[in-house]
Amino acid sequence: MKGEFPVDKFHHIETPFYYYDTQLLLRTLQTINEEVAQYPNFEVHYAVKANANPKVLHLIRQADLGADCVSGGEIQAALDAGFPANKIVYAGVGKSDKEINLGLDNDIFCFNAESQAEIEVINELAKSRNKVARIALRINPDVGAHTHANITTGLAENKFGIAMNDMEPIIQQMKTMSNVEFIGLHFHIGSQILDMTDFEALCYRINELQDQLEQHHISVKNINVGGGLGIHYDCPDEQPIPDFHQYFAIYAHHLQLRKGQKLHFELGRSVVGQMGSLIARTLYIKQGNAKQFAILDAGMTDLIRPALYQAHHKIENISSDAPTETYDVVGPICESSDVFAKSIELNKTKRGDLIAIRSAGAYGEIMASQYNCRKLPIGYLTEDL
Ligand code: LLP
Repeated sequence: MKGEFPVDKFHHIETPFYYYDTQLLLRTLQTINEEVAQYPNFEVHYAVKANANPKVLHLIRQADLGADCVSGGEIQAALDAGFPANKIVYAGVGKSDKEINLGLDNDIFCFNAESQAEIEVINELAKSRNKVARIALRINPDVGAHTHANITTGLAENKFGIAMNDMEPIIQQMKTMSNVEFIGLHFHIGSQILDMTDFEALCYRINELQDQLEQHHISVKNINVGGGLGIHYDCPDEQPIPDFHQYFAIYAHHLQLRKGQKLHFELGRSVVGQMGSLIARTLYIKQGNAKQFAILDAGMTDLIRPALYQAHHKIENISSDAPTETYDVVGPICESSDVFAKSIELNKTKRGDLIAIRSAGAYGEIMASQYNCRKLPIGYLTEDL
């Protein structure tokens, strides 16, 4: 099964570019909102890092999601797109003073703090502005996620978060600080997680930690479980919208929320992944000794995921219905790792054919670079064509 694309309209646009299916994004957002409506204490923030295209952000903002940011630049992008400051959360192991001040000046909802040293700096900066910063502690839950090693974050060996045994002493210390308020716990175990038992394991860990804090009469207003819900890269058309029903139900059933507690999510890939494709043009077909190469005008500078994480994206020739042949699909960049896929079947491909690299709405355009002095790819929504 191949995706449906407005190919006629693509011919007028300089390749490579990102195509975002607006209807799919809207249907995905609607599904999230319908599922979350069953749980009045759940709040979803969109992880801006997945795709910060201003038009995409604008649609997500209109669907009333909050924003999860990891830099001053992302806070600014979220504010520019109209996300209300009281729905912005800000994480990151290395927040600069300037970035913290941007958050303080805009009264964002919460800083997800990742070390004691950072909390001390936030306290000082807040003091000099006569503000009180709301802080959630990002705890490293030592829960493994069944995903690529480069995108797990919740193991003790990862750089993220505060060790569990430092949690309570740090909260006690925060109580002695004048310009920070402890408002919650934050977690994120990794990305592209399809094994739902990983999220269950996180729930059990959080239940234990909450029991522990209760013994010390520490109350927690907010729990933030991060993001991580994966998408099906092999079959984008069979499951274009991730199973949000099951995902939220896992938290509803396994996490023992306390009275009045709010549960926050930071979803990135699952919101925008399937709505995007990288559209490239075939430059040459080259017959190697043992292989046939389809050389595209898009490369790892436009979509780095295959080179960086050995990620698999479905690739389709959207200009041809001819019988398939086997190709290595590669880009023009001067790097051996500039390969999108090896030995895959494509409808017989010739120079000029348009190729769609699917499921590229998340961590695609936003991770593009200008290596080899290339232009950054442009992202178009359906109505822009
Ligand atoms: N919250 C935190 C604290 C995160 O670090 C991340 C992603 C998210 C939320 C959103 O996770 P998602 O729902 O998208 O899984 N560039 C990699 C993915 C890196 C993810 C980094 N953190 C990729 O292309 O697979």
